[in-house]
Amino acid sequence: MKLLETRIQQDGQVLGADVLKVDSFLNHQIDPDLMAALGQAFYDSFKDAPITKILTVESSGIAPALATGMAFHLPVVFARKHKSLTLKDNLYTAEVYSFTKKTTNQISISTKFLSADDTVLIIDDFLANGQAVEGLIDIIGQAGATLAGVGIVIEKTFQKGRKLLDDRHIKVTSLARIQAFEDGQVVFAQD
Ligand code: G4P
Repeated sequence: MKLLETRIQQDGQVLGADVLKVDSFLNHQIDPDLMAALGQAFYDSFKDAPITKILTVESSGIAPALATGMAFHLPVVFARKHKSLTLKDNLYTAEVYSFTKKTTNQISISTKFLSADDTVLIIDDFLANGQAVEGLIDIIGQAGATLAGVGIVIEKTFQKGRKLLDDRHIKVTSLARIQAFEDGQVVFAQD
């Protein structure tokens, strides 16, 4: 998606060998017009599937997932990383290991919000090692729901997440695909 690639070139900052900082428009300050365009792009890609719910993980997945839910006029459910006073029982849970942070998080979704009647589109901000998406797929399996596909804002093709999903024949739409960082510059994959 040209609009997103241009924005990454303009405002993204490459940190070290494999991290892109996008906090001025995606995961700290959020550009709502850009989110609306991302939501529309995911809608265009998945509109023929019988989707009933959009699913993501807090916190950075919520903005693009909400924009997608608005394009589809469908509910958005986000997995929580921390149990709360009101989220204790009747949960689907999965363990998500972060290679970046070297920590394991438990993610949870109330059984109220996902069932065998649902066909789900997963949306997330980054696809790196794919662990967050794998955790959501685990939860979709626990609910007996159907996975329609995965929409990713920024995929880093040099990390292993995309291969994990391709190996499972899951439809993945990534709006920007980064092949490498070279001398602090972003190199996009040519599809
Ligand atoms: P994975 O889910 O694909 O396995 O990713 P990984 O463990 O490598 O990444 C852990 C966290 O770091 C995730 O956020 C993910 O979105 C984020 N991340 C991965 N690569 C990048 C990157 O290049 N730039 C930025 N800005 N973030 C990246 P999280 O821990 O779930 O945090 P949040 O959603 O609460 O912000």
